[in-house]
Amino acid sequence: MSCNHQYIYSALFLSLFICFLSCQKESEDSLTHYTSDEFQQLSKKLDLPSQPYDYSLGIPDHLFRGSTGRVNMGSDDKATLGRVLFYDTRLSATNEVSCASCHKQEFAFADNEELSPGVKELKTTRNSLSLASSPSLVASYGGSVSSSAFGWDHSHEDSKRQSLAALLNRNEMGNEDLNGLMKKLRQDPVIQILTEKAFNNPYLTNEQLLVSLDAFMNSIGAFNTRFDEAIKENELFSGSGYMDSFTEQENNGKNLYMTNCASCHGVKFDIQQKLIANNGLSVEYADKGVGDLKGEKFNGHFKVPFLRNIALTGPYMHDGRFKTLSEVIDHYSENIQAHPNLSFELIGKSGKPKRMNFSADQKESLVAFLETLTDETILSEVKFSDPFLE
Ligand code: HEC
Ligand code: HEC
Repeated sequence: MSCNHQYIYSALFLSLFICFLSCQKESEDSLTHYTSDEFQQLSKKLDLPSQPYDYSLGIPDHLFRGSTGRVNMGSDDKATLGRVLFYDTRLSATNEVSCASCHKQEFAFADNEELSPGVKELKTTRNSLSLASSPSLVASYGGSVSSSAFGWDHSHEDSKRQSLAALLNRNEMGNEDLNGLMKKLRQDPVIQILTEKAFNNPYLTNEQLLVSLDAFMNSIGAFNTRFDEAIKENELFSGSGYMDSFTEQENNGKNLYMTNCASCHGVKFDIQQKLIANNGLSVEYADKGVGDLKGEKFNGHFKVPFLRNIALTGPYMHDGRFKTLSEVIDHYSENIQAHPNLSFELIGKSGKPKRMNFSADQKESLVAFLETLTDETILSEVKFSDPFLE
C-alpha cells in the first residue's frame, strides 16, 4: 500500500514538474512573439492573443484534399493580419463598411439580407456568398481557373481578385482605387506591427493586403458537421447506403438529395459536380449571370453554390429570392422554369422542366438532410471573430 502511494506521489510530482516546465516554456514563447511594447500597442485597439492562433486547416481524409490535404495559405501571422483587416471598416471609402458587414460570422460568413448594404446606403446587386469552406476548399485543389472560380457569375478567378473587386465596387466598399485606404492603414502602428510579423516589413503593400485576407478566409472550414461524422463511420461512402447516425428522415432526405441534387452540388459537399448551371429560376433573368461575360448561351447560369452550412445562409439564390430552404425545395419540386439554357440535369424525359413532385414528407426530409451540413463551431470560434475592442 505505502509503496504504491510513494509511486503515485512521485508520478504526481514528475507530472507537475513537466507541466511546470512546459508552462514556463509557453509563457516565454508568448512573451517573445510580440515585444511587450508591441503587445501593449496592439492591446489598445485589439483583443488579440499574445501568441497567434493556429490558422492551419486540415481538410479531412474523407473529402477531396488536393495534393497536400492542408490549407495554410500563409502563416498564422498573415491570417491574424487578415482577420484584423477583414473586420476593419477603414477598408471602405467612408469607413462604414468592412468585409464582415456582409460576411457575418453568425451566418457562416454570409448575410441574412437579400441584398447587403454597402457604403452610402447603396446595396449589393446580388446576395452575399458564404465564405466558410468555399475559399478553403478551392485553395485545397489549387484554386485555378479550371477548377473553380469566385462570385455568382464566376467572374473572379481567385479569392484575391474577388476581394479586390469588393474593395473597388461602388455599391460595396466604394473605393476609387487602393491609394486612400492604404494610406489610412499604413499610418496605423497596429497595422505596422502586424505587417512586420507577417511579412518582415512594416509597410503593407496592396498585394499583401489581399494575401492576408486570403490567408484568413482560407482558414475557415466547415467540416464539423453531422454529415461528416456519418461519412467517417461509413468508409466506403458513395452517396448510397444507410447512415447509422442519421434518423430515418435524414436518411430519406440524403437519398432524395443524391438522386436529384448531387449531380450539380456534389456528393460530399467538397467539390461541386458542376461549376455553373441554370436551375430554371425564371424564364427571363433580370441578372444574366455568366451570360454577361460569356454570351447568351450562358444567360441565367450562376455558380453552383457550396451547400455546407446552407441552413445558416438564407436568403437563397443569387438574388436572395427564397427566404427558407422549404421555398428552395418547392422550387425544385414543382416550379423549375423552361429557360432555353436550363441545365440538362433539370430537364425531364419529355424535354420539359423536371417535376420532382416531392410529397410534404419528402420535402421535410430534404430540409432535415440539408441541416446535417451545419458546422456550428465556426460561428463562435474566437479566432474568426471581430478583434476590435470597439
Ligand atoms: C457590401 C457587401 C459586401 C462587402 C463589404 C464584401 N462583400 Fe464579399 N461578397 C458580397 C456579395 C454580394 C458577393 C457575391 C458577389 C457576386 O457574385 O456578384 C460576395 C462574394 C465574395 C466572395 C466569393 C465567394 C465565392 O464562393 O465565390 C469572396 C471570397 C468575398 N466576397 C470576400 C470578401 C472580402 C475579403 C471582402 C472585404 C475586402 C468582402 N468580400 C466585402 C458582398 C460583400
Ligand atoms: C443543374 C444543376 C443543379 C441541380 C440538379 C440542383 N441545383 Fe441547386 N443550385 C444550382 C444553381 C446553379 C444554384 C444557384 C442559382 C442562382 O442563384 O441563380 C443553386 C442554388 C441552390 C441553393 C441555394 C444556395 C445559396 O447559397 O443560395 C440550394 C439550397 C440548392 N440549390 C439546393 C438544391 C437541392 C436541394 C437540389 C435537389 C432537389 C438542387 N439544388 C439541385 C444548381 C443545381
